[in-house]
Amino acid sequence: QNQAQALALSDAMTRACDYYKAQLRTAPNAIEYLKRRGLTGEIAARYGMGYSPSGWDNLRSVFPDYDALALVESGLVIDKVDEEGNKVKRYDRFRERIMFPIRNVKGQVIGFGGRILDQGEPKYLNSPETPLFQKGLELYGLFEARQAIRDAGYVLVTEGYMDVVALAQLGFPQAVATLGTACTTTHVQKLLRQTDTVIFSFDGDKAGRRAARRALEACLPQVTDDKIIKFLFLPQEHDPDSFVRERGADAFAQEIHEAMPLSQFLLREVSAEHDLSEPEGRARVQFDAKPLLQSMAPSALRLQIVRGLASLTESSPAEIEGLFELAKPVAV
Ligand code: GTP
Ligand code: MN
Ligand code: MN
Ligand code: MN
Ligand code: MN
Repeated sequence: QNQAQALALSDAMTRACDYYKAQLRTAPNAIEYLKRRGLTGEIAARYGMGYSPSGWDNLRSVFPDYDALALVESGLVIDKVDEEGNKVKRYDRFRERIMFPIRNVKGQVIGFGGRILDQGEPKYLNSPETPLFQKGLELYGLFEARQAIRDAGYVLVTEGYMDVVALAQLGFPQAVATLGTACTTTHVQKLLRQTDTVIFSFDGDKAGRRAARRALEACLPQVTDDKIIKFLFLPQEHDPDSFVRERGADAFAQEIHEAMPLSQFLLREVSAEHDLSEPEGRARVQFDAKPLLQSMAPSALRLQIVRGLASLTESSPAEIEGLFELAKPVAV
């Protein structure tokens, strides 16, 4: 039953994806839009990008069973209901949008992100969650990036679909994106299964800095001494897409090279807004650092961060370990 349902869902997604891809070839406005954003047909093809044309029920041509119940579950169509809950009409969810298929690790299309051409609300529309698609678990572009991640030895984690395809276009195919959600522990787990170095590169704006903080918190319980996690902070007005197109691949490579290690980011996060010249300021920094360090397993890295914090706050590592009740590594 569940297996059959999953197969039907997966089949519907694949058929829709093929349809959107075919539509892109005959949509000059969509092609023009992608060109304006610096993307070639080759990259669009590599990521299976497509276009959902205008019109309310184009998917009728793809699904002879358009009115069957199962199609709603895929999120490709929406049922409009009246106040009594009676179905009034059914219509395509995605209209006049650039379509980004989201694949799972097996390469199956499990959902879509759709960007409006130019202005309009919402800018991005995503598939709803289905038994195949849970947003907090999936990373856009991971399937396409797997070999590139192995070759580069690291993965770049961005916020957006356009960041992924623009980076791939300009020589960084090792990029993935969270799907407009915060980076979760599951995301981090998935990433660390692919590579031992993760570099977060969020937007330079406030939302991006907040996303980096959330990513830090998601990483701390999982980071081990054989892994490296870094954070790349772009200028305020940029995201990876705009940065790499405006400043070029060499400038972005330099940013990667200079990315901030997790330990430094953590210490900066807790100390940035406090006055280390006063006891109260130093106490507050320790107070803010406590839950972060407590979420880490005992490790050499945690010890290094404790030492960094100790020196910032005029304490000894032993005092901090005592104050934070950090479990000691078991002696062997
Ligand atoms: P461009 O404007 O096309 O360059 O997109 P962007 O990726 O730079 O957009 P932004 O930085 O505003 O948002 C980052 C990510 O958040 C997007 O890629 C989407 O996944 C998600 N997002 C942005 N706007 C919306 C929205 O209106 N609705 C939803 N559901 N997600 C959004
Ligand atoms: Mn943003
Ligand atoms: Mn952005
Ligand atoms: Mn952008
Ligand atoms: Mn603080």
